[in-house]
Amino acid sequence: MSTRGHGPSSHLAARPEDDMERMEQRPTRKLRKLIPMFAPYKWRALTTILLMLVVTATGLAGPALAQVAIDHGIGDSNSGVLVLTVVLFVAAGLIGVVAGYWQTYLSAWVGERVLLDLRTRVFNHMMRLELGYHERVPTGRSVSRLTSDIEALEGLVSDGFTSLVVNGLTFVGVVVILFAYDWQLALLAFTVFPLLAAGTAVFRVTSARAYRRTRERVAEVLSVLQETLSGMRVVQGFGRQDHARSTFREANDAYREANMATIRLSGVYFPGIELLSGVGLAVILWFGSNRVLDGDLSIGVMVAFIGYMSSFFDPIQQLSQLYSTFQSAMAALEKILGVLETEPELADTPDAVALPSIRGDVDLEGVSFGYRPDRPVLHDLSLTIPAGTTAALVGSTGAGKSTLAKLIARFYDPQGGVVRIDGTDLRAVTQASLRSQLAIVPQEGHLFAGTLRENLAFGAPHATDEELLSALRAVGGDDMLDALPDGLDSTVNERGGGLSAGQRQLVSFARALAAQPRLLILDEATSSVDVQTEARIEHAMQAILPGRTAVLIAHRLSTIRRADMIVVLDHGRILERGSHDELMAVGGRYASLYGDWEAATAAAAGRAAPHA
Ligand SMILES: Nc1ncnc2c1ncn2[C@@H]1O[C@H](COP(=O)(O)OP(=O)(O)OP(=O)(O)O)[C@@H](O)[C@H]1O
Ligand SMILES: [Mg+2]
Repeated sequence: MSTRGHGPSSHLAARPEDDMERMEQRPTRKLRKLIPMFAPYKWRALTTILLMLVVTATGLAGPALAQVAIDHGIGDSNSGVLVLTVVLFVAAGLIGVVAGYWQTYLSAWVGERVLLDLRTRVFNHMMRLELGYHERVPTGRSVSRLTSDIEALEGLVSDGFTSLVVNGLTFVGVVVILFAYDWQLALLAFTVFPLLAAGTAVFRVTSARAYRRTRERVAEVLSVLQETLSGMRVVQGFGRQDHARSTFREANDAYREANMATIRLSGVYFPGIELLSGVGLAVILWFGSNRVLDGDLSIGVMVAFIGYMSSFFDPIQQLSQLYSTFQSAMAALEKILGVLETEPELADTPDAVALPSIRGDVDLEGVSFGYRPDRPVLHDLSLTIPAGTTAALVGSTGAGKSTLAKLIARFYDPQGGVVRIDGTDLRAVTQASLRSQLAIVPQEGHLFAGTLRENLAFGAPHATDEELLSALRAVGGDDMLDALPDGLDSTVNERGGGLSAGQRQLVSFARALAAQPRLLILDEATSSVDVQTEARIEHAMQAILPGRTAVLIAHRLSTIRRADMIVVLDHGRILERGSHDELMAVGGRYASLYGDWEAATAAAAGRAAPHA
């Protein structure tokens, strides 16, 4: 469990990791969920099982053939039997090798397919989960679901099942064969079994716990890594590399310690088995030889017993080892299923229809919403934005502007009231048909690692270079190409990579524009552009806005002033609405905000002037 995140708010974090104890009680339920994933490959899987039977049988044949050769070939001086057993011995060896090859190949083939399918399924499911899920769950945790957890399953799926079947069968086979040969000697050979069973039981329980801990620790390492690397600017900006280093070292140490614990356990258990195996062998040698001397037991059977003893202890070791693989696989599977069983809260309803080409009337009626039910953010809010008009949302930070925008794009559903576009409740339409007609420029713009072209064409995959350039030109970002030697082919990445914050914002605008949306939602970051660029964006807005419905969360006076309607939000309620002139005339909150802005802008312009 994380060493961080304790404290009064930890009740918020009902983390899937907390459910470990629950899992321990019913691992088979989890396993059963895995079985249908083998269905598409059932013929190969069945062949693999058949081959396992062959491999086991050929493996068990050796000592029995030796017994026949010694007792009947040598003992009876029968060269025919000798030749036959040698031939059978060689044949069993060859068949074993060929079957073993195919069995290994096929089981790995099936295993890798199943893992590929599973990885794909988890990823696809994550794509279906609503934005709210991704805002809640740290990225690092989602990453470890798809990496370390799938890897943990690999050990089980690709050769764990094989090992289980082959070793299980071998173990049972040996017991049956030895009792068939001589039940008394078999009983003697198995005198160590209770000790073995007890030791194995203890090992199972303790190693299960230890392996579970390693899974948690590795997830922790991954999430520290992810958080630190993606927050590198802040980490370095505040000179917190030392802190990052020590957090990482702690997580890494904890992981190492967890691994060492499992190794210490294995270090006691496996040599312990060797010891018991030696004791078993000594018992057989002692009592067996005495009985051979008494003429009560054939030498061949004695040799077969010695041969089978290792086939008795090996599977136990292998199966115990497998048990830890199994345990970490189950812990991983639990978490993976946790993702898969998370139902998307915003799934399209079965009777959802495709939203036809929209005019762009946006209508909110009595909308109430909170990210958590007990903490409402928007209260009974009603607002109509007629098609083709521009509404500017203003209000202090935390007032709910971005939240309102997210509801219009249906990233969340309201808890009360309705959001409609062209009179249709958004809950009744497919998300794909809605999103294809709107473009959103989120407050935290994001560029994907790749070329500038790919980023611009994100919402319009088929746009030509000319269209992309004209979108860039329209937002006044074309001269940034001068600074980029490779033009549209220049590489950018999630945190800029050659672009300034303002330029990234322009790219986000151009991306939205290139998608030619009917409805544009622009959640603008405050002041990441200079006064001149601001003027240019302002100009670009004039190019973008006509003919579309736009919801602007803008911070530029000029944009706000020109909006058809200004909506002043305060603590999730609409305080004032109307045109700039109307609101100025009222002399309320907007008028006072405007006064502050004007003063601030004048000051900024004054500061900027000497450099201009
Ligand atoms: N993903 C989230 N999960 C939980 N609460 C959130 C989330 N996003 C925002 N909130 C809360 O909702 C309230 C409104 O946030 P919102 O982002 O809508 O404000 P805003 O008006 O856009 O502010 P800003 O001008 O700073 O962008 C805030 O109190 C915030 O704490
Ligand atoms: Mg916001």
